[in-house]
Amino acid sequence: MGKIKLDSRLLSVASLVRKGSTVADVGTDHAYVVAYLMENGIIEKAIASDINKGPLENARQTLIDCGITDKVTLILSDGLQNIPENSADDIVIAGMGGILISEILEKAPWVKNEKVQIIAQPMTHAETLRKWLCENGFEIRREVASTDGKRLYVAISAEYTGNKAEKSKAYYYVGELIKNSDELSMKYIDKTLNSLNKKYCAQKNAGVSDEDGLEKIIFEINTLIGRTQ
Ligand SMILES: C[S@@+](CC[C@H](N)C(=O)[O-])C[C@H]1O[C@@H](n2cnc3c(N)ncnc32)[C@H](O)[C@@H]1O
Repeated sequence: MGKIKLDSRLLSVASLVRKGSTVADVGTDHAYVVAYLMENGIIEKAIASDINKGPLENARQTLIDCGITDKVTLILSDGLQNIPENSADDIVIAGMGGILISEILEKAPWVKNEKVQIIAQPMTHAETLRKWLCENGFEIRREVASTDGKRLYVAISAEYTGNKAEKSKAYYYVGELIKNSDELSMKYIDKTLNSLNKKYCAQKNAGVSDEDGLEKIIFEINTLIGRTQ
């Protein structure tokens, strides 16, 4: 039995990692994801990186506790800046905002490679990340919703194809979650719809014009999930 137990958010991230891949876990903090993946025989080699020394020390302690210091390279790095190019094929970036995740990917053009899979778990602005992925030649393959009982989370996997398909704004808000049939995915979509509705009502009450086209986005999402208003 492994030492590492992941919460449902990190389990959803781990579930998207490909067996046998070399993982780079960016913003690793305690390195729980890579330690879990190793203890469960899913991967044999990984990089765990963080911008801050404290989290990297947390990671070092986890690797010592699990006896896997020889299998994981620790790197102090802002995003992917100090990660050697092409040194990983599954890149995990979890627990950060979608805008920061997009910026980290933007600064590392080597991730635009057909062998690379991005596994991202944005805490906010998932729509910004989906838009960045689609506009930069990535195809979103799978999305998994999870919850800790209070908050809902989404984990996204995407692969580079070079195909810059144009997607609707509605797609950027719900992505591939729309194809799932589980209750949590539907709850996540409902949460997204609620926050868009609130924003739309607030701007309407304030007499502000709907420059972002929220009304259309809300209508399209409702249509996608088969809800007529
Ligand atoms: C909330 S924690 C998430 C830890 C873990 N990935 C998770 O999902 O539970 C965010 C981590 O990202 C690190 N971080 C923030 N900005 C970063 C950046 N630009 N590059 C690398 N790490 C970053 C922080 O130091 C922190 O350890």
